[in-house]
Amino acid sequence: MAKKVVTDLNVEGKKVLVRVDFNVPMKDGAITNDNRIVAALPTVKHIVENGGKAILFSHLGKVKTEEDKLTKSLAPVAARLGELLGKDVTFVPHTRGAELEAAIAAMNAGDVLVFENTRFEAGETKNDPELGAYWASLGDVFVNDAFGTAHRAHASNVGIAAHLDTAAGFLLDKEIKFIGEAVDAPVRPLVAILGGAKVSDKIGVIENLIAKADKILVGGGMMFTFLKAQGLNIGKSLVEEDKLELAAMLLEKAGDKLVLPIDTVAAKEFSNDVEFRTVSVNEIAEDEMGLDIGAASVELFAGIIADAKTVVWNGPMGVFEMSNYANGTIGVCEAIAKLEDATTIIGGGDSAAAAMQLGFADQFSHISTGGGASLEYLEGKDLPGVSAVSEK
Ligand code: 3PG
Repeated sequence: MAKKVVTDLNVEGKKVLVRVDFNVPMKDGAITNDNRIVAALPTVKHIVENGGKAILFSHLGKVKTEEDKLTKSLAPVAARLGELLGKDVTFVPHTRGAELEAAIAAMNAGDVLVFENTRFEAGETKNDPELGAYWASLGDVFVNDAFGTAHRAHASNVGIAAHLDTAAGFLLDKEIKFIGEAVDAPVRPLVAILGGAKVSDKIGVIENLIAKADKILVGGGMMFTFLKAQGLNIGKSLVEEDKLELAAMLLEKAGDKLVLPIDTVAAKEFSNDVEFRTVSVNEIAEDEMGLDIGAASVELFAGIIADAKTVVWNGPMGVFEMSNYANGTIGVCEAIAKLEDATTIIGGGDSAAAAMQLGFADQFSHISTGGGASLEYLEGKDLPGVSAVSEK
């Protein structure tokens, strides 16, 4: 059955609780990337334009000590939201209590309020039933638009949903449609590109995609565990020794579906200020480490990507933050950018950051706002935040 979306709710005059993922990167109290706030705007605008009272809340970072609270307030996020919406946004620096309740009671149709970081409550990450029930008591209906948090069963998403009619916001709906369709009903060929440092982070994704993708291109630090599992000498490259057997098993299971790089950009140190060279994966010296895929691998991957009708990408091809090792990731971005009628998706986290930093963000059909959530979705797991949304 299909899940309810925000347009299925009558929000007029209602207190609409909205769980957003405003877990944005911050430096010295300033937001360094407001994508997640921008991505929530369609849902907030819909509620406001239809006469709802939008009560927004989110976690921000990990809150383990009282001291953490000093740097994890949502106040700057509420201010940025106000700028983006071009209207006043009330910020309440509490997660419960008389002041918050009075501020909500004073709201008019079309008003927007943000309350403090949900993780200031110890019960949030434990999905404390009392907390979920309390937050639910503050509203009439619930909209979950926090895709980035959908892999967590917390009080502010799953807990509240147990008490109120719950709909997905436009962002959550878009994310599950894009990623869900790409994996479960893709226009073929479906090419998955997987990178990042560790095989251990991607085991579930590889296992799920072996059954679903037409090709799986593997780059990034994790390629070396696969290469070593094939018996190659990888020098000082990153390796997860305890995953060699698993990597060998995945290689066998995937057969020619899984494509490994044929060359690498290697250096003697993990630094952008040392000499580097492109070598065949057979020729990595003992004192070298591979830090990117090489030009021949980019060409190999680009040839496969050129035929794709659906591309799902998770994890950079190399240490793209250092210019000497960014060409693999740039090359993959360029190959994807050339596709004219394919659906192309980046599954959040580092690869999304790479595409944005390298200037390719607008070349993709969809850039997920979820890191962990998009990975778990690609693994084929049920996301608790999505499961908790009411059926139509
Ligand atoms: C994310 O940034 O991936 C989400 O906001 C979830 O954050 P978390 O890993 O702290 O739960």
